[in-house]
Amino acid sequence: MGNTTAQPARAPMPPPPHAAPVPIEPGPPPTPGTRTWLARLRPFLRVPLFYKILLANATIVALGAAAGTVVTASVWAAPAATFRLVAALGLAGILLSIAANAVILRIALSPLRELEEVASRVQAGELEARAPRSPVADRDLERLTATFNAMLESLSTYRRRLREMAARNLDAAEEERKRLARELHDDTAQTLAALLLRLRLARHTTDATARDRLLDEVREEIANALDRVRRFARGLRPPALDMLGLDAALEAHARSLQEASGLRIEVESTRIAGLLAPEAELALYRIVQEALANVLRHARARRARVRLARSGSDVIATVEDDGVGFDPARAFAEGGLGLFGMRERAAYIGGQVEIDSRPGQGTRITARIPIPENTAHAL
Ligand SMILES: Nc1ncnc2c1ncn2[C@@H]1O[C@H](COP(=O)(O)OP(=O)(O)OP(=O)(O)O)[C@@H](O)[C@H]1O
Ligand SMILES: [Mg+2]
Repeated sequence: MGNTTAQPARAPMPPPPHAAPVPIEPGPPPTPGTRTWLARLRPFLRVPLFYKILLANATIVALGAAAGTVVTASVWAAPAATFRLVAALGLAGILLSIAANAVILRIALSPLRELEEVASRVQAGELEARAPRSPVADRDLERLTATFNAMLESLSTYRRRLREMAARNLDAAEEERKRLARELHDDTAQTLAALLLRLRLARHTTDATARDRLLDEVREEIANALDRVRRFARGLRPPALDMLGLDAALEAHARSLQEASGLRIEVESTRIAGLLAPEAELALYRIVQEALANVLRHARARRARVRLARSGSDVIATVEDDGVGFDPARAFAEGGLGLFGMRERAAYIGGQVEIDSRPGQGTRITARIPIPENTAHAL
């Protein structure tokens, strides 16, 4: 990859012109006069849409009817009885049109009411509620309903993944506990019991040479047991992370993967020691570990490269490979937990993960973790 890669992963694309942030000019502050008008209009503006439209329509119809009555009366100089009849008919027309308007509006706005109801049900904990497709919705309302449902769907997918990840972590912790119990019971406890017997034997041995031999054996056994316990303890935590720091730990991990798989993995790092808190180092270690595991499992790559560097107030870790690449949106939809877990881990410590990949184009995973402010200033 990079200087040694035959087929580098995609170079960072310049942001498309339309993606450039559009500066928003703050408008002039409202003058005192505008403020009073706004204050007066506010009660009307806050009236529900239904009543606003109904009022507007009713006003138009009423003005039309009044104008018609006046014109009729003045053009034909109608007698008072006829005028009253025309006025009564006009009034009946107005009432009828208001009623018709109300019914039509109720029907037309019912999809919005349904959205509101579903939002309240979701808020009350009914997370699987979805807005039904309304037969009276126009195209805009249909789009709004679909977007609303899609939003709820992605929220519940997110929750399901979190649950799955928590379950996987619990399983892993349970496995680890079993392994720990087995190791302590089958190895450490047995060794200590055997040592105890030998020490007792040595205590009752009167022959000095035989006793020295026994004690030598005991010392040797203790040294071996100590070695096993140390190796076991190293297996519980990422090797070398505490002792040597993140870069050396990742180098050691990459080396052992390279030896086991034959994939060539380069690790480059500029000085990042001491920039991150221990839990952030552990998170970054796990993110790179998962990214490399994915390279081995899925990428069919010839080379991979891990880079660790400081960039401004962040530490950035990049894992690139020259393998088959994939469609990140699809991979997310299909629901592996590795990529999801990477993002969650990064978010947990205030960072983020970008996935840059396309079928046939290799993959680049970039994790950006902020350096705590006091450390950033101190170093
Ligand atoms: N470096 C890569 N090269 C090619 N495909 C990849 C790479 N990384 C991820 N993928 C694709 O993305 C999918 C999702 O990856 P993810 O790590 O989320 O799940 P997984 O590896 O399949 O399972 P797990 O939950 O055990 O990690 C993979 O199944 C694979 O198709
Ligand atoms: Mg994975």
